[in-house]
Amino acid sequence: MERMVMRLMRNKNQSLRQLQGAAAGGLASSSSAPSTAGAAASPFSTLQQQEDHPAPGVLNIRDTAAHLIGRTPLVYLNRVTEGCGARVAAKLEFLQPSFSVKDRPAISMIEDAEKKGLITPGKTTLIEPTSGNMGIGLAFMAVLTDPAKGMGGTVRKATQLYENHPSAFMLQQFENPANVQVHYETTGPEIWEDTLGQVDIFVMGIGSGGTVTGVGKYLKEKNPNAKIYGVEPAEANVLNGGKPGPHLITGNGVGFKPDILDMDIMEKVLEVKGEDAVKMAKQLALQEGLLVGISSGANTVAAIELAKRPENKGKLIVTVHPSAGERYLSSALFEGLRKEAEAMQPVPVD
Ligand SMILES: Cc1ncc(COP(=O)(O)O)c(C=O)c1O
Repeated sequence: MERMVMRLMRNKNQSLRQLQGAAAGGLASSSSAPSTAGAAASPFSTLQQQEDHPAPGVLNIRDTAAHLIGRTPLVYLNRVTEGCGARVAAKLEFLQPSFSVKDRPAISMIEDAEKKGLITPGKTTLIEPTSGNMGIGLAFMAVLTDPAKGMGGTVRKATQLYENHPSAFMLQQFENPANVQVHYETTGPEIWEDTLGQVDIFVMGIGSGGTVTGVGKYLKEKNPNAKIYGVEPAEANVLNGGKPGPHLITGNGVGFKPDILDMDIMEKVLEVKGEDAVKMAKQLALQEGLLVGISSGANTVAAIELAKRPENKGKLIVTVHPSAGERYLSSALFEGLRKEAEAMQPVPVD
């Protein structure tokens, strides 16, 4: 997907905090909707306080799509893991309202900035360098930058827009602690609870590093023996001392080490080739019924590599499927199908 700089003007009349209040058991006075089940206020109330099964007599209807963020399911991968000694489960982050893992940091960073008084709904224009999913998670409007210039070009353009815009604010996903915190407070605990604490290994592709750092920190605190692995494109293996470059694994391999990425939390950063990631993403659709993006393919390739190691026999490996396959219709993932469809001839109906 093309790199993009995101420009966003939030709805004047409904602040995110009002949404959050409504999520936390209808606490916001501005919300006249029936309350959903919830508990006390927290910085990540939208994500944490929607109970899966509200108390009897409480409507189980979310106030807005933003209240659907979080609480994604885990599923075993059964066919693509044939011959593996360990079990592999994927956390289906593509089942978020805007179809990617980035919904979590998007709401978390906006809420954090609002709480600190750094942004004002209806006034501030948010500017953010993103490979796509964060932009989609945040945006109503986006400006695309030249994909050939990579994430560096996107960051330069974002900085330029920021400097020339009177009421701009940059969320800075690569530096913003709220990006890590949301995974520490939501994604990590969800994995721990859903596996009854039995997760042995967590493996995740690195873009901003927010997911691997936040989840890794939480799991390590719960179980110091848990092993955490990162994943990066073999063609742009910067974290392993290589050079940045073009690659196919959208959302991973940004070409520099993000400030928020904690290298010490990981055993190792595994490298996956773009073509293997694409191949696996196709296999996941055909064999597991999971139409996921290229980084989901990369994460699965890395998880399977770990699941085949003799020392991991009998262990439970959790990975993430960060985004939905339909987002990549114009990418290498669907190139073959696209060519086939373009070559199709209309069939007469009479
Ligand atoms: C599709 C996809 N996969 C993986 C990631 C990596 O997540 P993180 O930024 O938390 O490292 C991203 C981030 O943008 C992404 O868009």
